[in-house]
Amino acid sequence: MNNNNFTWGVSSSAYQVEGGWDADGKGPSIWDNFSHVPGNIKNGDTGDIACDSYNKVEEDVYLLRALGVKNYRFSLSWSRIFPSGRNNSINSHGIDYYNRLIDGLVANNITPIVTLYHWDLPQALQDIGGWESSTLIDLFDSFADFCFQTFGDRVKFWITFNEPQVIAWAGYGAGTLPPNVNDPGSAPYRVAHILLKAHARVYHTYDDKYRASQGGVIALCPNIDWVEPKTPSDPRDIEAADRYLQFLVGWFTHPIFKNGDYPEVMKWKVGNRSELQNLPSSRLPVFTAEERDYIRGTADVFCFNSYTSKIVTHSTTRLRPFSYEYDQEVLTKVDSSWPSSAITGHRAVAWGLRRLLNWIKEEYGNPPIYIIENGVGIKTKSDVDDNTRIFYYKTYIDEALKAYKLDGVNLRGYNAWSFMDSFEWLNGYDPRFGLHQVDFDNPNRPRTPKRSAVYYAEIIRNNGIPLAHLCVSIHALLRTEIVFHRVLQGNMVFA
Ligand code: BGC
Repeated sequence: MNNNNFTWGVSSSAYQVEGGWDADGKGPSIWDNFSHVPGNIKNGDTGDIACDSYNKVEEDVYLLRALGVKNYRFSLSWSRIFPSGRNNSINSHGIDYYNRLIDGLVANNITPIVTLYHWDLPQALQDIGGWESSTLIDLFDSFADFCFQTFGDRVKFWITFNEPQVIAWAGYGAGTLPPNVNDPGSAPYRVAHILLKAHARVYHTYDDKYRASQGGVIALCPNIDWVEPKTPSDPRDIEAADRYLQFLVGWFTHPIFKNGDYPEVMKWKVGNRSELQNLPSSRLPVFTAEERDYIRGTADVFCFNSYTSKIVTHSTTRLRPFSYEYDQEVLTKVDSSWPSSAITGHRAVAWGLRRLLNWIKEEYGNPPIYIIENGVGIKTKSDVDDNTRIFYYKTYIDEALKAYKLDGVNLRGYNAWSFMDSFEWLNGYDPRFGLHQVDFDNPNRPRTPKRSAVYYAEIIRNNGIPLAHLCVSIHALLRTEIVFHRVLQGNMVFA
């Protein structure tokens, strides 16, 4: 590949790696409280210590440098910075931690990509209604404003929300993730409405107060699965596949990248079904003309996370109970020949990524695109020799590069999920996504590069998939790996 501006990186998030859940004045988040209730997380795991990254800045930066990444995407824990969620409670120790991390990255020429919200809402803000309350718009804006002011001299790439669809649906519809609100027919739509307004507000704050002096970019980061119509010759299945994508991602990106408003098909389906349900108005809220103007255009680049693909057919779904899921009038399934992984529903379907990238290009007029998370979870403690993961990365990156080189997709970067094994939400430490293994039984949480880390380092060094000399260099790198291994196991450098 001849584009040296292409950025390669790895990703993580605060609750999944930091630990230090109540260290130095940090306030509790909804994830702290949720994971502390026995039975909520597999094996009784919590993020209390996680990878202990809160105490391992130097070690983490060292590993990132060894990997050769050009960027590192992490998130800020809101309640580590504002323990009560509000700017009248500022925790200087939390700020010091992020300053040390950011300074360490910048000193090593690693661009920080910083997410403002990766699911860990301060509990104090849940207590006033969480994302169902529009007061969160102001509060999120004041948190973001503080972060731009404090870190924006060095951080030039900001993400507002990680996976807003998961926040709205899993948090407030299905209720599987905190705050566990189970209101599938209407809360997700109301929450998404607030998330979009909060996103737009933060974008405008950056634009009005910081862009001229700091010169960064800002976006949001939806989760997207590629969906393939079951019968490509059946127009109803093609429409169903597009409808699935509009409900999943267009919900957020249609307003932002198109016309300030929800996709037509969402307005039509939710409106029509609400009428059939004898409701006085649509369960999908309506933006005013002024709000549409305010929301349109509030992302400088298109970021997304993707892990898998599905097959979609048209379906006549039931009218009750009211549900965002039924509103889509689709049925999804997977092809049983696709390789499964530790996460139910995540299968390795690399060609889906190329199609997805082309869909984004066509749908949104070829914006600059960043793949912010992509990777595979494997259920094993000791997968240092992780050929399955190498296969996943090799095939997915290959398809991404085909989209870039052959299809003219404006792809600007690729980030692997994840930098290291970490707290995998409801699944605890069971499925492993890391390029580095973390020993969670050892209080020092030693990190060990897996074979996939060596392979990914080689991809970065080559700025693409290495050619025939691959085998030779892999051997050389394996020697490096053994050295790393010894250093980190012995805690020689960073004890
Ligand atoms: C999330 C990550 C998570 C990953 C793997 C993504 O949806 O952003 O936090 O670890 O999926 O399940």
